[in-house]
Amino acid sequence: MEKKPIQQIQGKRVLSGIRATGRLHLGNYLGAVKGMLALQADPEYETLYMVADAHTITTPYDSEELRKNRREIIIDYLAAGLDPEKSIIFQQAEVPQHFELAFYFSSVVTIAKMQHLPTFKDKVKQHPQAATMALLNYPILMSADILVYKAGLVPVGIDQEPHLEVARDIAQRMNIDYEMDFPLPTRFKTEGEYVPSLTGEGKMSKSVDGSFINLTDSLEDIKKRLAGAPTDSGTLGGAVPKTGGVANLFTFLKLFGSESTYNQYVEDYKEKRIRYGEMKQYLAQAIFAELEPFQMRRAELEKDTKYVDRVIKEGAEKARAIAQETIDEVKEKMGLA
Ligand code: ADP
Ligand code: TRP
Repeated sequence: MEKKPIQQIQGKRVLSGIRATGRLHLGNYLGAVKGMLALQADPEYETLYMVADAHTITTPYDSEELRKNRREIIIDYLAAGLDPEKSIIFQQAEVPQHFELAFYFSSVVTIAKMQHLPTFKDKVKQHPQAATMALLNYPILMSADILVYKAGLVPVGIDQEPHLEVARDIAQRMNIDYEMDFPLPTRFKTEGEYVPSLTGEGKMSKSVDGSFINLTDSLEDIKKRLAGAPTDSGTLGGAVPKTGGVANLFTFLKLFGSESTYNQYVEDYKEKRIRYGEMKQYLAQAIFAELEPFQMRRAELEKDTKYVDRVIKEGAEKARAIAQETIDEVKEKMGLA
């Protein structure tokens, strides 16, 4: 079915983004990108997907790396199946309306509220020397990213929930104080909304060594990474544990393996005959089978500089046009026009 033009179906817009901090991993793919793809395929929704390059500067970074990564993520998006014919694909920094709206929004948010956000506290713990204003403003900018398009649905992993709560608070305040008609954005959940770490503790994250599998990893890389994942003696029997290394391997099996294989390994665990080496081999094959088409498309796209340049340029133009409508409206309502 043809996608409807963006102006026609307000409230059915979708916006999501990923920071340009490095290579995408399975957590990003299952928690965010898969949701983006599902909504792109639904003709009911208008989808906008960006690289959150400006959010990258909220924690210490290298500018040459950022320049590279803000393009690499666009290529990752395209290789994963985001389609510029169906979605507006762009880089956040190319649409200055986001930053303008974030400043207007900051007038309805207290400092105390931002300081108490768990996501802020975590980042300050990670980088105690870099508790900047940009970091404090992170959720306000993210709210602006979403609301500048009046998007109501946001495909992201579960860790982003506190940020969406801020977006809803801001939308509500703006609606009450300035008679705006912002939707209250909610998270679009995927089956892989929480992909665990290969270390057996916490979530898969690019900032934790040994925790992740990258989308560009070869079969050998994947085998090596899985080999490092902790297991047990295999002779405990009974029910599969709910936390730790073994639990996480079973989560991967559920996400990537067939149902019958999953059930077989549950049975093997129960009967104390599970062989983790074999299970990891199977899992590596299953994960690679999902990544291989992505990697092949990516290799093609890397060569097609002109196409990628065009996607980036046209995406920004389309995004700016929509974003400016909201800016005009907010300025008018706030007494700035
Ligand atoms: P990281 O924690 O590796 O730095 P990001 O914070 O850049 O990842 O996250 C980008 C997107 O991927 C967000 O939507 C986030 O919710 C999602 N995401 C990240 N890690 C996971 C995970 N382990 N499971 C599910 N989703 C994840
Ligand atoms: N905070 C998100 C992350 O850590 C990135 C992001 C920035 C985002 N702006 C957004 C996600 C708007 C969804 C919508 O990955």
